Amino acid sequence: MTSTPFQASRGTRDIWGEEILLWQALEQRARDILGRANYQEIRTPIFEVTELFSRGIGEGTDIVNKEMYTFTDRGNRSLTLRPEGTAGVVRSLIEHKRLSQGVVRCWYLGPMFRYERPQAGRQRQFHQLGVELFGSADPRADVEVIALGLEFLQPLALPSLTLELNSVGDPEDRQRYQAALVEYLTPYVQDLDPDSQVRLTKNPLRILDSKHPTTQAILATAPQLPQYLSKDAHAHFEQVQAGLTALGWSYVLNPRLVRGLDYYTRTAFEITTTDLGAQAAVAGGGRYDRLVQQLGGPDTPAVGWAIGLERLVALWQKQGVSFTVAPDITVVAVGEATANLSLQISHMLRQHGLRVEMDVSQSSLSKQIKRADRLGSKACVILGETEVATKQIPVKWLATGVQELVPFPSGFADPQPWQYKCHHPPVA
Ligand code: HAM
Repeated sequence: MTSTPFQASRGTRDIWGEEILLWQALEQRARDILGRANYQEIRTPIFEVTELFSRGIGEGTDIVNKEMYTFTDRGNRSLTLRPEGTAGVVRSLIEHKRLSQGVVRCWYLGPMFRYERPQAGRQRQFHQLGVELFGSADPRADVEVIALGLEFLQPLALPSLTLELNSVGDPEDRQRYQAALVEYLTPYVQDLDPDSQVRLTKNPLRILDSKHPTTQAILATAPQLPQYLSKDAHAHFEQVQAGLTALGWSYVLNPRLVRGLDYYTRTAFEITTTDLGAQAAVAGGGRYDRLVQQLGGPDTPAVGWAIGLERLVALWQKQGVSFTVAPDITVVAVGEATANLSLQISHMLRQHGLRVEMDVSQSSLSKQIKRADRLGSKACVILGETEVATKQIPVKWLATGVQELVPFPSGFADPQPWQYKCHHPPVA
């Protein structure tokens, strides 16, 4: 009986081969840049109780209404695969009472899950790198967080990136604005696209996000959110802009930028690109001063962002960024008598910090050497029955073709000549 081979589920993908090196480089970069700003990594569970997300992200949002992977476990609890990282981090810090100790800075990286319609740059399992700064209402915290995101993205020479900035104000400001927006839009209700018609009663601010041309035309003369900010929120926003300018970062003000999650207050931003088609947002974030309290914690202002790593990797690939790794040394061997010696030599060379592959293909020596060359190895250690007897081991430097005889074990004991020759292959 033949069976159809399994395939990765729709909206998920495997990451392997050369692409994994891009991911590892991104992870290293996150550790370096965020570590230097004294952020600590946090790893929270992949699933949480459903209510954390419905209360945290907002009952009226697309994520909660349409996109969550929710299931009932055997104990009859409703659980959800995390659609984003912020709510879980907040839950963790409240649970461990870490918010009474002043400012907390943390970052995370991991898979998130949203039941969206998959397309280029949009998956059902995707990865976010996120940072969150808790315990400060200082506009400098917003600037630090935004600048870290830009610093992380920028040297990858991504000229297509734009920082879009807005202030969505405090909830009271938003309420006043929402009333004005609804009043403005109501006479046009028949002309709005169907989604926006529904949103007019459910979540009017999200209408600002509509890509529909008629809706956009109607919005062109609509009241704008920044005009409804309180004095404090306005001053805060001015200081955020001044801080970004002081650091030399440019931005575009986008008064229609409202985020797809309900928890934001004041600063909201996205880092967008023109290089990825419809999925323009590489990163999104902002301030969320009420969320901690809303989830049962102490009154704690906070600000953060998340970068979609698949989108960033796609941008890198588009620019031709790639990495390769190759063994320094490949140990090739034929004949049963060479078995232990090949194990010993591979082990000794690895102890010297070299990347060593032991060929276990059992093919002919010439095939093994060809393969080592194809992998990009710098040298082959070549073992046959004679070498086991004489303890004089041929080492072939593949770039120059130079072959030398190295006595075993003395010639393998000292790391230095090996390390040197891997960088400066001997010439005849
Ligand atoms: P978000 O805007 O929903 O924000 O997601 C952040 C980023 O994740 C997006 O800009 C995008 O690059 C990526 N992303 C989202 N959905 C998908 C998908 N289906 N496939 C591929 N990439 C995707 C948040 O999640 C907030 N928690 C960010 C935040 C942290 N705000 C404050 N702190």
